[in-house]
Amino acid sequence: ESLKRLIEQAPKTELHLHIEGSLEPELMFALARRNDIDLPYDSEEDARAAYQFDDLQGFLDLYYQGMSVLQTEQDFYDLTLAYLERIHADNVVHTEVMFDPQAHLERGVPFEAVLNGIERALEDGQRDWGISYKLIMSFLRHLSEESAFETLTAAEPYLERIYAVGLDSGEQGHPPEKFARVFERCRELGLKLTAHAGEEGPPDYVRQALEVIGVDRIDHGNRALEDEDVVRMLAQRNMTLTVCPLSNLKLNVIPEMSQHPMLAMLNAGLKATVNSDDPAYFGGYVNDNYRALIDHLPVSSEQLHRLLVNGFEGAWMDDAERKKHL
Ligand code: HPA
Ligand code: ZN
Repeated sequence: ESLKRLIEQAPKTELHLHIEGSLEPELMFALARRNDIDLPYDSEEDARAAYQFDDLQGFLDLYYQGMSVLQTEQDFYDLTLAYLERIHADNVVHTEVMFDPQAHLERGVPFEAVLNGIERALEDGQRDWGISYKLIMSFLRHLSEESAFETLTAAEPYLERIYAVGLDSGEQGHPPEKFARVFERCRELGLKLTAHAGEEGPPDYVRQALEVIGVDRIDHGNRALEDEDVVRMLAQRNMTLTVCPLSNLKLNVIPEMSQHPMLAMLNAGLKATVNSDDPAYFGGYVNDNYRALIDHLPVSSEQLHRLLVNGFEGAWMDDAERKKHL
């Protein structure tokens, strides 16, 4: 009601978004036709109906399948522009966009096509709608350290256009420490570091992200709450958590939205933020994620304000830019 109106009207950030996860069924079908690719769905409704997941891996299977329609620079441009148009309607003024180069390189799509398409749309979005942005290149953790190093080599000519690196895909069995050396090299190259941790993986993976990798941010972080030492570490470092409520629900990280730990995180002094993760698959963009919290948790206007401010404080934007919004 009034809290929802406040959220809809407030300028917001998005700090955890996989651009490939913003591929709506309509665009998926249009690109499949354009590129002459067969989809395993009869219709857009059929695709949507298939988006019911038991866990992260169940989602990832359809996510990698869906992105097979992304072939050309123009496809990545169209994908990214559609996302920006959608978040502009939500009053998102700054977005930090993750992409998965390995998932495209292994299909024969050149790094440059992916980067140029995404970035050209981001530039247009900045010019036309005033949406500022950063780009985050994410390593697939189910692949090897060697593959991550190869990807970094492929990215090397373009690194001044990439602000940070991340770590995503199947978490269990692929701890942050598996990528300690790649991330160390990325830090030497001047990149910011983030990693998915504590989504399905244990609190120790969050600890590793902090202590072994030395991340600047944690994506998700839910399961940190199971270990008070890890909570203390996160609070002491004022570490931003990019939390994704609808994603958590759809991937069974939580049994129902009323069980979401967002308020527990705030009460523990953690710098939690609200984000959409893979909006085309999880049923909503940033405002939908805020609305889900408002509908199912006893969230106060102070707490909502805190979440909005955390989004700007946790963003990789310069202070002059941040001040415009706070
Ligand atoms: N978790 C891990 N990897 C991912 C996700 C996620 O939510 N979305 C896209 N890749
Ligand atoms: Zn994610």
